[in-house]
Amino acid sequence: MSLDRYAVIGNPVAHSRSPLIHSLFARQTHQAISYEALLAPLDGFKATVAAFRARGGRGANVTVPFKLEAHALADCLSPRAAAAGAANTLRFDDDGIFADNTDGAGLLRDLVDNLGCRLEGTAILLLGAGGAARGVMLPLLDAAPASLTIANRSEPRALELAQSFQRHAGKTTLDACGFAALSGHRYDLVINATSASLSGEAPPLPAGLYGPGALAYDMMYGRNETAFLAAARRAGAKRLSDGLGMLVEQAAESFLIWRGVRPQTRSVIENLRGALRSPAEP
Ligand code: ATR
Repeated sequence: MSLDRYAVIGNPVAHSRSPLIHSLFARQTHQAISYEALLAPLDGFKATVAAFRARGGRGANVTVPFKLEAHALADCLSPRAAAAGAANTLRFDDDGIFADNTDGAGLLRDLVDNLGCRLEGTAILLLGAGGAARGVMLPLLDAAPASLTIANRSEPRALELAQSFQRHAGKTTLDACGFAALSGHRYDLVINATSASLSGEAPPLPAGLYGPGALAYDMMYGRNETAFLAAARRAGAKRLSDGLGMLVEQAAESFLIWRGVRPQTRSVIENLRGALRSPAEP
């Protein structure tokens, strides 16, 4: 019997942890699948998807820089992919391609289930206004915080993002500003959705943002503490988390979409944390 095939498609993709995560999920849930990393040429995402489908692919994760193209390729979009304007999960159905975005759900599961956060009625600060920030807006608003503030290096981009989600805000006060205007405000949760950590930088934030018990959360992760988390620690944040849990949770949500079963994530997060710390890892 041939295995159902899945893949992560990106460029670059060699560093992706998704093959390891999904093989652990498959073993745990006794699902007979294969999962590979596929490097697509920068101008060849659509052709790579078509070739993978022709070889029996049943679904794919999509990573940088193809999430917008994945959204555009879909015949059917989930509401969260539509709101995010980007997709990280494709399912190849008989009647076409279904696209979803599990990044926001992954963040929420990590915050609520793994880290024990209660988000309703809180003050949340979201740093960044690019694709990563857009992808988590809807689930964050659905959690009904008292306020959600988007702060970005380029203020107009933050204002535009807030504007485009205003109709989803419900009772949440949704606003946007540049970093300097955060001075004098305090938050229960500060989420870094900028790509600054990739270049070892932290967004230039004013002092005093972290209320007592506040959580600083970086959607990035790495072997060493990210620049954002190191800066948050110096700024007095007592609770810190990187985005490794979010990575595993978004994968679990993709696995559910493909296989109809939700894997347990705790042991997989521990496994990845161990691999990240091992000297053999880059
Ligand atoms: P992604 O899909 O990862 O969100 P993106 O759409 O390029 O990528 O957005 C990157 C985000 O990180 C933006 O919010 C960017 O701020 P600008 O809109 O002002 O460019 C932010 N960013 C990147 N490097 C940064 C840095 N060194 N300090 C602060 N913000 C940074």
